[in-house]
Amino acid sequence: MFTVEIIQKNASTESKDELIKNCQQFLHKYEGISPGKVLSDFNDFDYLTNNVLSIILDEKIKISDIESGCHNLRWVVYRLDGFGPQEDVLQDSDEVLTLSTNWILPSADLHCLWENLIYENEIKQNLLKFAETTLLFSANKIDQNIISSNRMVLLHGPPGTGKTSLCRAFAHKVAARLRDRYTNAQLIEINSHSLFSKWFSESGKLVTKMFAHIRDVSEDVNSLVFVLIDEVESLAHARTQALSGTEPSDSIRVVNAVLTQIDQMCKYNNVFILTTSNMTEAIDLAFVNRADIKQFIALPSAHAIYQVYYTCLQELLRVGIISPRDVILPHTALLLVETHPNTDSAVLLEISHLSVGLSGRTLRKIPFLAQALFLNKNKSSLREFLEAMRLAVLKHIEDTNSIESK
Ligand SMILES: Nc1ncnc2c1ncn2[C@@H]1O[C@H](COP(=O)(O)OP(=O)(O)O)[C@@H](O)[C@H]1O
Ligand SMILES: [Mg+2]
Repeated sequence: MFTVEIIQKNASTESKDELIKNCQQFLHKYEGISPGKVLSDFNDFDYLTNNVLSIILDEKIKISDIESGCHNLRWVVYRLDGFGPQEDVLQDSDEVLTLSTNWILPSADLHCLWENLIYENEIKQNLLKFAETTLLFSANKIDQNIISSNRMVLLHGPPGTGKTSLCRAFAHKVAARLRDRYTNAQLIEINSHSLFSKWFSESGKLVTKMFAHIRDVSEDVNSLVFVLIDEVESLAHARTQALSGTEPSDSIRVVNAVLTQIDQMCKYNNVFILTTSNMTEAIDLAFVNRADIKQFIALPSAHAIYQVYYTCLQELLRVGIISPRDVILPHTALLLVETHPNTDSAVLLEISHLSVGLSGRTLRKIPFLAQALFLNKNKSSLREFLEAMRLAVLKHIEDTNSIESK
């Protein structure tokens, strides 16, 4: 069953049923529905303008589900937390150390992050299925000694491929969709670097302190908790060094303390542990073995790149930096693009092929570099902008090569 998310404005006091009814009416008449679409402009439908921030359609939704009266859809309604990240810190007279960063979910900071991360091979869909299955099994009180799952995910791959963002977005998305079941959802990002600070000798205690807080939150059955341990290689590296005798054996104790805490979290079936690593080969087996899902996140393919650029160009068209409003075909129409050379879309596809090898992080900077370095005016035609993007990509490749050859 596919989901439609209604994000209610914080000031709105309308009931869920009323919101759903109005959204159904709006969607029924709306032209230009497409899977994964985020709708935030409701034209003259005042009820929605006053009460709803956005409507997000499932990335797999079928247009026929909406046309036939929205009966087969799952509706979720939620508000966004606007407080932003809260830091848990350790402080003395000359240093402040962040132990963890906490978000109440769903958070305004993470709104639409999921939708803007583009992957192939159903990576995002599989993560959602993993969450659903986990919660289904725990709702049915499946015996962990018979079928085990640790509720731990490891995303690994080159830097800049969106792993950290994907973990945050995943937490936000699952919390949003399960708003009715779990009224209190949190994302707790552990700063693993803090364990190797000047308070290093206290690290064992710090780990216990960090996890004691997580355990407190998880005791409440209405809580859903996501713990993000980013770049676990920094922990794992310390452990390997310690094993080979080049680092003080204290660091091995720290890492083992973290692993022990992770193991203890397994008994809470409302806790997900999300980990990332930028190093694909050398991930500590202790982390690899504990993860239920070990997902490699690759550099984006030409088609995914096209989609990322497409969203960037839509944004520039929206604000008028690219003007007049020309049409670029979405990635779903790539077959059409391939058979129509010399169109703007075909040029974009060509630039996408040229960009293979760049990370998602770099791709999202290319339009900025194009404007900053290769255009001297505040408004350009689509074709002019595309040519500037091509130059920005070439310059980026050249600059990277010259650094690497040094
Ligand atoms: N596959 C992708 N699709 C869209 N944007 C991406 C993608 N990969 C990376 N990005 C962009 O790069 C930014 C930084 O990614 P980040 O999560 O820090 O990567 P990593 O943790 O793998 O180094 C993201 O917030 C996003 O804007
Ligand atoms: Mg990262």
